[in-house]
Amino acid sequence: MIKIEHVSKSYKDKLVLRDVSVTVEDNEFIVIIGSSGCGKTTLLKLINKLLPMDRGNIIINGHSIRDVQGTELRRKIGYVLQDGGLFPHLTVKENLELVLKIGNMPTEKRVDRVFELLDMVNMDPKVYCNSYPCQLSGGQRQRVGVARAFALDPDLILMDEPFSALDPLTREELQDEIVKLQKEYKKTVIFVTHDMDEAIKCADKICVIEEGRVAQFDQPEEILKHPADDYVEKFVGRNRLWGNPSYIHASDIMSTKPVQLSKDRTALQALQTMRKNGINSVLVTAAGPRKILEGVVWLEDLQKLDDRKMALRLSEVLSVDYRFVFEDTTLQEIIDRIDYDRSGIIPVLNRRGELKGFLTKSMLLSALSKRYRHEEEEL
Ligand SMILES: Nc1ncnc2c1ncn2[C@@H]1O[C@H](COP(=O)(O)OP(=O)(O)O)[C@@H](O)[C@H]1O
Ligand SMILES: [Mg+2]
Repeated sequence: MIKIEHVSKSYKDKLVLRDVSVTVEDNEFIVIIGSSGCGKTTLLKLINKLLPMDRGNIIINGHSIRDVQGTELRRKIGYVLQDGGLFPHLTVKENLELVLKIGNMPTEKRVDRVFELLDMVNMDPKVYCNSYPCQLSGGQRQRVGVARAFALDPDLILMDEPFSALDPLTREELQDEIVKLQKEYKKTVIFVTHDMDEAIKCADKICVIEEGRVAQFDQPEEILKHPADDYVEKFVGRNRLWGNPSYIHASDIMSTKPVQLSKDRTALQALQTMRKNGINSVLVTAAGPRKILEGVVWLEDLQKLDDRKMALRLSEVLSVDYRFVFEDTTLQEIIDRIDYDRSGIIPVLNRRGELKGFLTKSMLLSALSKRYRHEEEEL
């Protein structure tokens, strides 16, 4: 666990980080995001002691970094820079070997480890071992940069805008891979970016920094849904939530006032209720306070009944041929799973089967079209 506690940092009389407090759990992927000059790089450099902090403390696994030598500390923390930071006059193999040597790995083990590392980042060791950085593409250089950060198997890896200079496709590929490696090798990663899409894609938690202060530190979904202030909201962009249907749940878009009747009411009462409300179905719940959903009655079905049957209880005429979703079912799943042309009304239940609301096709379409409407407004 890494505890950043009330850390401040100035360059001369310019305050660059103000009272930053963030706790990072083991194996978390933290993304630090903020506009250029807000202090992201400075924060990373305080963590690995490339810079001294003025005030506050940084505690890694119970030990203050104030009590550890910088070089010693940096051996245990991987670091990936935007340009890869490889030595241009050394080959890929030599670049990696150098780190292993600094980490006191015995000479005879180093070559095997270099091969292993290159394999890990999907670079064929036989092809690339003897290449110089200038002979590699930007993406390949970053792969080697990542391999180098993993070389001594540190628990913590810091990454400073590692993919910013890459083309979008290579960038997406490397984002996928770094998240996979982080999970597979159980690393704690603190990753700096100024790109919100990258942050949302990779982060377990996002730390939004505005001019050296933490504006919000939370899970991506929370940042999207409940931005802490105007700055975060502006940074996130209003339409971004709607571009991520997996963060929107049924409870976010449902109506919470379903027309419902208890199953001991009659068909006639259901018919009247539908006419009064101008609707073609009523949700039927168990008698009692818990509103367990038992079924649906459709106008169409009631109209087929002759008058004598109008006294029947809803429990005798209800249909169980309907699709429901849970409050926490994501918009993505609803779109994928539910044939909403057929469903008409989609009851929304909590995990105990209680009726909490309903969705209709038009509610789903309006949720889906929000992102486009906002985009148009912003043009
Ligand atoms: N060595 C330095 N001396 C003086 N000012 C600096 C130095 N390094 C960075 N700064 C200033 O500190 C602020 C934060 O810089 P930095 O941490 O690099 O921001 P970011 O990485 O978010 O773009 C910027 O205003 C920058 O100009
Ligand atoms: Mg920076």
